[in-house]
Amino acid sequence: MKQITGNSNRIGIWRWLMGGRHGFEGYLYVLHRISGVALLLFLSMHVFFTGSRLLGQETWERLMSMTRGPVFVFLEYLVYCAFIFHAFNGVRLILIELGIAVGRPDHPVFPYRGSIHKQRPLMIVLMIVTGILIALGGFDLLRFPH
Ligand code: HEM
Repeated sequence: MKQITGNSNRIGIWRWLMGGRHGFEGYLYVLHRISGVALLLFLSMHVFFTGSRLLGQETWERLMSMTRGPVFVFLEYLVYCAFIFHAFNGVRLILIELGIAVGRPDHPVFPYRGSIHKQRPLMIVLMIVTGILIALGGFDLLRFPH
């Protein structure tokens, strides 16, 4: 069993990069929330833009002209990235919340052992798929002129 020595809270740069005491999954949690809220904002904007058709041809055309150009296309790519990440990380959260890939419960003896290492392979596989899809989307974005 690992001996607890001193009161130092230092975790070092590498462990900080990996999410400190919460592990890398801690960052994924923050990104999940940010991507969820970003998707919600996009959805509201999408409904507003498409609904503007009801306000007449001129309003519709004026709003549609704002959606052309490289900046808007790049923003659309960010929405794509947010969706891919949110969907795959969401599947990971659903599996874990259902108790899949969490492992059997241990006796709560100090220092407590988390089940994070049992969940990590699932996270790595899903994040690799996420990375591949985001890269393929970026490749498509660069391949076809907008
Ligand atoms: C395949 C599609 C999706 C999956 C699998 C998914 C999954 C999830 C899960 C499991 C959570 C709960 C996370 C937790 O346990 O704390 C969540 C939260 C959330 N999702 Fe999704 N989601 C999807 C699509 C979307 C879309 C399209 C939107 C927006 C239009 C969205 C917006 C949100 C928001 C705002 C939250 C709350 C975030 C928070 O407060 O932490 N999700 N999603």
